[in-house]
Amino acid sequence: MRDKLVIGTNTKMYMTAARTTEYLRELGRLTEGLDRATLELFIIPSFTSISAAAETGKKVGIRLGAQNMAWEDEGQYTGEVSAPMLREAGAQIVEIGHSERRHLFGETDDMVNRKVLAALRHNFTPLLCVGETAQQKHLGIADETLRIQLKTALYGITAQQASCLWIAYEPVWAIGTAGKPASEFYASSKHVVIRDTLSELFGPAVSREIPLLYGGSVNAENAPGLIEMPHIDGLFIGRSAWDAANFSRIIHAVLPVFIGKAHNMRALAE
Ligand code: PGA
Repeated sequence: MRDKLVIGTNTKMYMTAARTTEYLRELGRLTEGLDRATLELFIIPSFTSISAAAETGKKVGIRLGAQNMAWEDEGQYTGEVSAPMLREAGAQIVEIGHSERRHLFGETDDMVNRKVLAALRHNFTPLLCVGETAQQKHLGIADETLRIQLKTALYGITAQQASCLWIAYEPVWAIGTAGKPASEFYASSKHVVIRDTLSELFGPAVSREIPLLYGGSVNAENAPGLIEMPHIDGLFIGRSAWDAANFSRIIHAVLPVFIGKAHNMRALAE
């Protein structure tokens, strides 16, 4: 999977179903010429947009995901949306543990673990988000935080299941309008911590296959530098991706950088 640039956006609570469909159509048109053998493009819209946008997503080769999911398949859980419901709507990816879910809605590592297990049980691609807060960074416990988040969220998962995971490193202090992007060197050093932890849990061969994405104030200026880093396999973008033309510019800028890097890494491995 790491031979493909994995790049996508979470539209948070911004786009209606009509707007999402229009956005997908536009992004599909702007990225039409790009070789999908090296590019995995995905959009994670609101729950209510998924089924409306599913047909367009298929047509333009953009995978759709959900921003959250219940860990139970059904039951007395008012307000929750389950895996079978998301499957029916047309989602293939489930974003789990985004910082806003953790910090605004009280999601714990244990809840994140149950959601990852449910997503795998239903053959979704779980996009697990991890990242330290500004305070954890300040205290010098960013690496420990990442290890705890990963080891708890991935508890009970087999190496075979782990090969289906995508992981996004999103430092909390880098996300959103008040966020400052991590430098490519800082982000890269945390991707190494994540890769090592995955290796410890599932072995080096599986760890090497799992795409690690960086997220947090990614924009057209910093995206190519981030993608140049050996362990940054993709980008998970918010604000800078919500204008299709801007997102397309970022994709066009980073894809050649990614292809060049993948080529060099293959050459080194031979
Ligand atoms: P941002 O959002 O790019 O707007 O900082 C990133 C995210 O929340 O995943």
